[in-house]
Amino acid sequence: MSGRFQGRVVLITGGARGQGAVEARLLVAEGAQVVLGDLLEEEGRALAGELGPAARFIRQDVTREADWQAAVALAESLGGLHGMVNNAGIYVPRTLMQTDAELFERHMRVNQLGCFLGMRAVVPAMERAGGGSIVNISSTAGLRGSPGALAYSATKWALRGMTKAAAVDLAPRGIRVNSVHPGPIDTEMVKVWTNEQRAVRLSQIPMGRIGQAEDVARVVLFLLSEESAYMTGAELTVDGGASL
Ligand SMILES: NC(=O)c1ccc[n+]([C@@H]2O[C@H](COP(=O)([O-])OP(=O)(O)OC[C@H]3O[C@@H](n4cnc5c(N)ncnc54)[C@H](O)[C@@H]3O)[C@@H](O)[C@H]2O)c1
Repeated sequence: MSGRFQGRVVLITGGARGQGAVEARLLVAEGAQVVLGDLLEEEGRALAGELGPAARFIRQDVTREADWQAAVALAESLGGLHGMVNNAGIYVPRTLMQTDAELFERHMRVNQLGCFLGMRAVVPAMERAGGGSIVNISSTAGLRGSPGALAYSATKWALRGMTKAAAVDLAPRGIRVNSVHPGPIDTEMVKVWTNEQRAVRLSQIPMGRIGQAEDVARVVLFLLSEESAYMTGAELTVDGGASL
């Protein structure tokens, strides 16, 4: 199979379903090999089986450094590590006064510490591969005040800053780091919304529709590809104009 990603290996966290799964599908269709890391073993193994020999699933908790080492080793065994998407995330929306320390810390561990451990873990392998591209999935909640999601917002703002700091640190090593900021995207994550909450979000989107995972995945592929070779530390919003 030929394509933009022929000979490339990409590790996607939270790759068993939702946006990560669509990124995996598109990457494989364009010639990449993918490693899907996730806690969801059944979904992850089923997806990898469907995608065939170009896809591998590994049970990975992004908050555990040892799991990162195993995922990176698996990717390298396939022929190097060229791209990584820090996509795993949790969203338990609560206002400031509804958020306790445990919930705040849970978001920090998965969304923020996980992203940090991931960036650290992939650097040596990407250097051995001659360079690479890291894409951190933030949110429009990392660009403005997101309603009723204090802890989630804190982590998504952090990802935006960590992306820019890492972009500066890693540029001399040939590794680019960019962030993507999706608005509401139709995945399992937003099933916590009531119909009313969903209708409010929809009414705030100038393009008049909730996003699909493909809308984000295509932008992620652009950032993983050589088409964005001179971009690092950038933040790309994918939200139908909702944050304008
Ligand atoms: N859906 C939206 O509206 C939206 C908007 C903006 C940003 N995002 C972000 O996009 C990313 C993907 O979310 P999605 O919409 O596909 O939702 P999703 O819930 O379908 O996917 C998230 C994935 O992360 C995995 N995950 C959670 N904790 C993990 C851990 N500790 N280790 C490994 N994997 C873990 C889950 O099992 C799941 O497969 C997330 O970072 C999310 O915050 C989503």
